[in-house]
Amino acid sequence: MEPPQSESMPQDLSEALKEATKEVHVQAENSEFMRNFQKGLLTPEGLKMVMASLYHIYTALEEEIERNKGNPVYAPLYFPEELHRKVALEQDMAFWYGPHWQEIIPYTPAVQRYVGCLHEVGRTEPELLVAHAYTRYLGDLSGGQVLKKIAQKALNLPSSGEGLAFFTFPNINSAAKFKQLYRARMNTLEMTPEVRRRVIEEAKTAFLLNIQLFEELQGLLTQGPKDQSLLEAPGLHRRAGSRAQDPTPVEAPRGKTQLSSFSQAPLIRWVLTLSFLVATVAMGLYAI
Ligand code: HEM
Repeated sequence: MEPPQSESMPQDLSEALKEATKEVHVQAENSEFMRNFQKGLLTPEGLKMVMASLYHIYTALEEEIERNKGNPVYAPLYFPEELHRKVALEQDMAFWYGPHWQEIIPYTPAVQRYVGCLHEVGRTEPELLVAHAYTRYLGDLSGGQVLKKIAQKALNLPSSGEGLAFFTFPNINSAAKFKQLYRARMNTLEMTPEVRRRVIEEAKTAFLLNIQLFEELQGLLTQGPKDQSLLEAPGLHRRAGSRAQDPTPVEAPRGKTQLSSFSQAPLIRWVLTLSFLVATVAMGLYAI
């Protein structure tokens, strides 16, 4: 007879993680930001925000992976050439924000929380790093590929993949085969039942950190035109420790046009309101 634990929870870590995160995965897919993304209702501001967030997240994740690459709790999952996203995201940052992207990209509270969690795990509980790597990299190799096509179409981006390097894995021929290899490697990790339980909990936490990020981004994107400027205001969300410099890019970053037309919206609204008032008063006088 099977032990009771395996009746409810699959034996392989890869299966257990998939099973345990099913519900939060649905929640992530159904977050307003992701629903809009899937419908192609994506703006350059939205994509810029999420890409900048991912830049900070992957910088932290990959810093902690490098720290733990020789640790047997992570070593079998060390695939820098195939998976690591930091360099790709740097290219995307330059595309979207211009050459001075490092000084101007946003660093919002939800991202700071996520980054803080990654450093904490990498430094103090490296046995849980697998949960974070699984959540991001297997996600990017799955739904991420659909999202790339949607973004390309919605924003009319070049098919060369410029601006979306994050979604491209040039050193992986078959995502399906690589995911199989990755799952097999996860299943070789030796862990006590207690650590395994914590890894599974940490994967759910990782999903929740992503969901909180989407909620925050959606909130920022739907705020009034005045607050739209916060989306890339240097200083307000600048990464801790970065130097204050002229944020004006030499080359116009992508998505600027839309932002500047946003900033004209209040003026247009005032002119329309004023015209309406003048017309109402004129009609009133005429009626008298
Ligand atoms: C619009 C949003 C999303 C869509 C359409 C989507 C879609 C998918 C699809 C089609 C798969 C493959 C399922 C399979 O092979 O059985 C998958 C797997 C996965 N997704 Fe997502 N996903 C989305 C968002 C996310 C997010 C936000 C995360 C986490 C940050 C994530 C993490 C994962 C992971 C870890 C897997 C691998 C599951 C496993 O095989 O163990 N996904 N996703």
